[in-house]
Amino acid sequence: MRPQEIIAKKRDGGHLNEAEIDAFIEGVTDGSWADYQITALIMAMFINELDFAEQSLITRAMLYSGEILEFPESDHPIADKHSTGGVGDKTSLIIAPLAAACGMAVPMISGRGLAHTGGTLDKLESIPGYDVSLSVGKLKDTVAACGFAMSGQTKQIAPADKKIYALRDATATVPTIPLIVASIMSKKLAEGLDALVLDVKTGNGATMTEIDRSRRLANEMVKTGKAFNVDTRAFITDMSQPLGQYVGNALEVYECIKLMKGEGSDHMDRSLQLSKELVSQMIVLAGIAPDHESAFLKLEEALSSGRAFEKFVMNVELQGGDTSVCDDPEALIDGSLERRDIVASRAGFVSEIDTLGIGNTVSEIGGGRTRTKDKIDPKVGYSHEAGIGTRVKAGDKLGSVFCRKPSDAEFAVEKLTAAYTIGENFVERPDLVLEIIK
Ligand code: URA
Repeated sequence: MRPQEIIAKKRDGGHLNEAEIDAFIEGVTDGSWADYQITALIMAMFINELDFAEQSLITRAMLYSGEILEFPESDHPIADKHSTGGVGDKTSLIIAPLAAACGMAVPMISGRGLAHTGGTLDKLESIPGYDVSLSVGKLKDTVAACGFAMSGQTKQIAPADKKIYALRDATATVPTIPLIVASIMSKKLAEGLDALVLDVKTGNGATMTEIDRSRRLANEMVKTGKAFNVDTRAFITDMSQPLGQYVGNALEVYECIKLMKGEGSDHMDRSLQLSKELVSQMIVLAGIAPDHESAFLKLEEALSSGRAFEKFVMNVELQGGDTSVCDDPEALIDGSLERRDIVASRAGFVSEIDTLGIGNTVSEIGGGRTRTKDKIDPKVGYSHEAGIGTRVKAGDKLGSVFCRKPSDAEFAVEKLTAAYTIGENFVERPDLVLEIIK
């Protein structure tokens, strides 16, 4: 089948059948389709959308473009969580060891940060020596040894998605729900899961800012997971303010270590709360506990006994990281950085936070990247200390920024101060979990 015929059919609003979608994904995987043909079809899919049948066919074809992990020797249910990304969204670093300590095997394949959102791989790489490029063999051995592994997408996992995602990123065709579903779900289904919990963010710091679109994405992913026999649930969670206290790679690892050690601050609390909610759902879906009450008892014990943190330390060692940061997380905070406070310009209540603005500012002072190849400064970031609903007086501290250069500090203080709207009237703190889609 010639690529031109398939492209023309979708361009004219037709529905692609299994043979046509398989031919496309085979052409991407074996290199026989040129990049311009791939992007022409992707743009036609972006404009004319895909129905559920096409979305499932492309997910399946992308999934089978590579290897599907198998864990025949594991006595544990295989489970994972995936987040659509946000600002200060660091829960993976707590969820993976906590789920492992509760009896699950978690082969977590994660991504890097792009634009204003952070990425788990960048956060982990702020631990000196930590290796996120695991082969399939090493990933499986790590899961067998400590219950979880955290790695980037290997060449063997959904290679067609890797190629298509890079082209979508360069051709403004990322934000379309069917292709997002196919991209995320092909990678997650390749992990050979029994249970999957999705955290779909909504609000001004999320990639989907409107709840209707977040809900549609969540529904489509749950339907797709179930169609592939994976017990799947999606949470829609708040991203109208940064999650927890810190935004910035090393600072977020610091927050997770402090929380797992039971030494977290009140500002960090929502990171732990959301991690617990998501792990509780994984425990129930994986059949480890019958209900959320007993799931919570299990996970609280895994945290308070230190077992979850022990799993984390074991994993850092197995993936080549320097475990001294686990004993001394303060080492993750670079004392030589310029540190400036952000203060309230007037008295009142924090009524709105420009979360995207905070994410972009951290990115611009070196904490993120605009192109996939950009280098990042793992130490810079922001400590967010006044959430929506906080009552403040003029001059009260809202947060503080950690910058490499004084000129960055000037810029960041201006941007971050402008990110907070302070109004006269009391505003309720937004709920963390807005909906659960079954
Ligand atoms: N993350 C992915 O992995 N794929 C998308 O298409 C969007 C976000």
